[in-house]
Order: sequence, then structure tokens, then C-alpha cells
Amino acid sequence: MKFRTRSIHVGHERDLQTGAVVPPIHLASTYVQHHAGEWREFDYSRSGNPTRKGLELTLASLENGCGALAFASGMAAIHCVTMLLQHGDHIVAGTDIYGGTYRLLHKILNRSGIDVTLAPLTDIDAVEKAITPRTRLLWLETPGNPLMSIADLRACASLARRSGVLTAVDNTFATPVLTRPLDLGVDIVVHSATKYMGGHSDVLGGAVVVSDPKLLEQLYFIQNATGGVLGPFDSFLVARGLKTLEIRVREQCRTAQRLAEFLESDPRVARVHYPGLPSHPGHELAAGQMDGGFGAMLSFEAAGGAAQAQRLVEATRLFQLAVSLGAVESLIELPAKMSHASYDAAARLSHGIRDELVRLSVGLEDFEDLRADLDQALDA
Ligand SMILES: Cc1ncc(COP(=O)(O)O)c(C=O)c1O
Repeated sequence: MKFRTRSIHVGHERDLQTGAVVPPIHLASTYVQHHAGEWREFDYSRSGNPTRKGLELTLASLENGCGALAFASGMAAIHCVTMLLQHGDHIVAGTDIYGGTYRLLHKILNRSGIDVTLAPLTDIDAVEKAITPRTRLLWLETPGNPLMSIADLRACASLARRSGVLTAVDNTFATPVLTRPLDLGVDIVVHSATKYMGGHSDVLGGAVVVSDPKLLEQLYFIQNATGGVLGPFDSFLVARGLKTLEIRVREQCRTAQRLAEFLESDPRVARVHYPGLPSHPGHELAAGQMDGGFGAMLSFEAAGGAAQAQRLVEATRLFQLAVSLGAVESLIELPAKMSHASYDAAARLSHGIRDELVRLSVGLEDFEDLRADLDQALDA
């Protein structure tokens, strides 16, 4: 089956008892044992839940993995992966990563004696130099957040494999519609399912997908032991969102491409970061690595500086001023003050996240309406 068909049919078995085409949501927290100590497929909802399991089957299928785990949030999924490490281990991560991941790596994992080096993922030599004999995990995001930098996943995965290091990709921005990192040699894919997967700004969730059953077992052990699982209602909402993932993402990419072209040609804008533009340094790599689109996230620098950026994000009417991304509603934000506020100010600047940077999550509204909204806000 093709991607779109799998998103509708894998993991969504009809209900055999009633014939309902949508399976029921299983709310039970515990399950009867026929004999004391005889463990069946489901015994307790933290360890396994039929609704969550259906979603995990869909997720594994869409990422071409052997299995998936669904979490209460993207951060819970990312934290689970980092719990594969122990005291004395080292992580190399990209400089262009989600602020919450930066905070977890620098302000939580350090308490367990795990240290982190950030390296620009666009420079494979810099990544290689950052790897030490203690490195156990290479953490990647592509397109990066908020500068939309493109990492060469094949090159990073093969470098890590040669060095005995696990690779993990936060595939939230690209979604499995556009990039399937496991097919490119990456070990672990994570998602904030809160974003494109849920797709409607009404659920928080996370996912981990792998292609090695042993790694799946280790991650499941951690998830079950620490308990950050996705609840049944939320599993249902993410599963429902996945049914329209491909069609939404492809349409949102088309609108984002047109908006990026509009902004790039506008003198009120100093610079646009979007991998679909030939001027983007990662354009060719993205064209080879991403499948038929460049994502629906873009950022740009206001020519009038930080004050203009602040005015414009407060002047849009359709683009709503909010963190998060990936839903049908378009959003606008200032990374320096919002999504990336948890970076230290000096680190933020040294990674190129300037105060005049504005980030857009392009939704499913009509292109002309969105263009007109940005046009009036740029005049503010
Ligand atoms: C790229 C990326 N990864 C992970 C996360 C964290 O996900 P959650 O908010 O679902 O915990 C976010 C949240 O914005 C994100 O943008």
C-alpha cells in the first residue's frame, strides 16, 4: 500500500464486534488476567493499550520502522531516547534545534553527568570533530529550527555508524511525508505529534520509531518504567490526524513555497530561510533528500530590525501569534522571545537566531489571504 492508504488503513482495524469502521477508544486502565501471573497482550494501560497500539502500528508503517512508541508529548519522546545514555556519556547535537530540546540537553541531562556539544549539522567535518570516544548519540533536526538548515542525513548516519554512535532525528518539521530517516540509515526517529501528525492544534503527543527490534525493546523498557505514555483519547486524535497527514502537508508545502517567494522579492524583508528557495544553501541537498516538498515552515528577517519584527508579528490577523506549528491554522512567532527563549542569549546569537527573525508555520488557509495578511503586517 502507498503512504496515504497506509495512513488510513494500517492500525485502524474495523471493530469485529460491531462492524464500526472506526475502532472504539479503549479507556480501561487494567485488564483481567485469566490465571494469576499469566500475562496476556494487555495487562495495564501504561504497559500497553489497544488504542495506543493502533496508533503505534500506523506510525511504524509511515516511517518504515519495525515498531513505534507513542508518548504524552514530543519532549517525553525525546527524553526517553536520551535515557538510553548514562553518566559520563556525551551527545553531539545540531546548533539549529528546538529550544526545548536545547533546554533538556543543557539543563536536565547535565544533572546526570551527560554532557553535550553543539555542532553545525551543515558542516560534516565539524560534526566529526565534535565526536569523542564518549559520544553515544548524534541528535539531528532537518530542516533545522528556526533557520531551516538542511543536514545530510545519509552522511551523518554513516559518520555516526563508523564511530559507534547512535543517530536520532527529530523529524517533526519534515514529517514522514517528506523524509523517512530510517531509510537513510538513521537509528531513531522522534516526533512531536502535537504538530503535523495531530494537525489541528488540539492534542499534545510524541512518538519514537526505530527499525531495530532490540532498540525498540530497550526504549519500550524505559517508556514503561518511566510512564510518559500517550492517553487513549489523545492516541485517537493523533491517529485521526494521520489519516489526512499527506494531503495536508503537501498542500501546506505548496502555499509555503509561494509565500517564501513573495517574501524573498519584498524589500521590507532582508532575508528568507526556506529550503525550497534556490538561494537557500541547503536547497539542492533538500531537493534530493525530501520527497516532493520542502516543508511548511519558514523564517525571515525583517529589514527594519527587531522593532519592525515585533510590530509585524502583532499586526497579522490570520497568522496567529503563538508558539507551536504544523496545524491547519497559520501561526507566526519571534523565536528569540518565544520558541527559542530558553537558549542563553549569547548562544542564541552565536547560532544566528537574531532578534529580527520571524518564524511562520504555514497552515491550510488560502494563499492569497495569507499573502495579503503578511503584506499589511509588513507595513505596520
Ligand atoms: C521540532 C520540535 N521537536 C519537539 C518539540 C517538543 O514537542 P512537544 O511540545 O509535543 O513536547 C517541538 C515543540 O514545539 C518541536 O517544535
